[in-house]
Amino acid sequence: MRKESKTIVITGGAGFIGSHVVRRMVTRYPQYTIINLDALTYAGNLENLKDIEKSPNYIFEKGDITDEAAMKALFEKYAVDAVIHLAAESHVDRSIADPLQFVKTNVLGTANLLNVARLAWQGQFEGKLFYHVSTDEVYGSLGETGFFTEETAYDPRSPYSASKASSDHFVMAYYHTYHFPVIMSNCSNNYGSYHFPEKLIPLMINNIINRKPLPVYGKGENVRDWLFVEDHASAIDTIFHHGKQGEKYNVGGFNEWTNIDLVHLLCKIMDEKLDRQPGESASLITYVTDRPGHDLRYAIDASKLNKELGWKPSLQFEEGLAKTVDWYLANTEWIKHVTSGDYKKYYENQYDHR
Ligand code: NAD
Ligand code: TYD
Repeated sequence: MRKESKTIVITGGAGFIGSHVVRRMVTRYPQYTIINLDALTYAGNLENLKDIEKSPNYIFEKGDITDEAAMKALFEKYAVDAVIHLAAESHVDRSIADPLQFVKTNVLGTANLLNVARLAWQGQFEGKLFYHVSTDEVYGSLGETGFFTEETAYDPRSPYSASKASSDHFVMAYYHTYHFPVIMSNCSNNYGSYHFPEKLIPLMINNIINRKPLPVYGKGENVRDWLFVEDHASAIDTIFHHGKQGEKYNVGGFNEWTNIDLVHLLCKIMDEKLDRQPGESASLITYVTDRPGHDLRYAIDASKLNKELGWKPSLQFEEGLAKTVDWYLANTEWIKHVTSGDYKKYYENQYDHR
């Protein structure tokens, strides 16, 4: 897509990755109107976007992607050129506790959004784009060797990954059936600022700050491939503007860590930053019962994105992790708000009087 003026709906823009994508698009492309469509579940927090909320090309719309009438009204209100779809339930542990919520949001919500966009754009697909943001978890679990490529067969193993795999299939089905203009990317684990402290890295940072136990599942031998969230946002920007319709792109950091090594590295960084004795934070590590069906290893081969579109990650992990720790140490109020639910009050103050 060329960089003329456009109206882009970003779903899930108040979440972790979505807020970085919204910030990047609002600030880099003043000629675009960016509409952040978010239901503000527990994971959505408008405080993540405080710095850009007054930008003239930014609009927030509260709405639920599973609500057909609300999505139709959105497409009637705005002449939408593109959708970047990030809204989802995203936490594996929550999907084990409440799988049907994941079916509702991730499967039904995506199918609903696709259908509303298809009907709104009917006969005029030229210049339109539906960009679906997905995860490497759809590919299942690797052994000790090998990588996920774009050709790897889907083999999801958690209710979260099964729901994301299903949404990916709907996206490709719309491409093949209706020639609906789609593009998709599957990314590895992200880390960085504004990450809700129920996921591994922000949870460990928060617990280290508060000298609480650091719960490592099983033996801590599971491997994840970590990517700095701003690098994911830059990949989404690249794919949105230069990717080929009907294609999918894997996004990853070529950066594999066992959970236990990662937690030790975090402890070391934080001992230094908090002026603690070496080993003080690591003494908080506590092995707990493993996650059921815990995928052993994820590792992304992101060479297609590099070769075809020239994207590569900008940061080394140690540098990104140190930056992330600095952000959490400087933003203890943010952590307090999201852990106490105070941000909901912020939303009411900002938006309920409109
Ligand atoms: P998140 O949980 O932090 O944010 C999700 C956002 O979606 C929240 O703002 C929430 O309010 C909103 N939302 C949830 N249900 C909604 C609904 N029914 N209608 C409208 N909005 C709704 O998630 P995240 O970690 O930022 O992930 C964003 C996307 O990226 C997801 O699709 C996820 O599958 C994908 N992804 C995440 C990672 C990761 O490491 N976090 C990696 C690869 C892909
Ligand atoms: P998580 O951040 O939930 O991401 P995902 O499950 O989508 O990869 O977890 C990352 C890894 O860390 C995963 O192997 C599970 C593990 N983990 C722990 O060991 N302890 C924790 O408290 C959490 C939240 C995760």
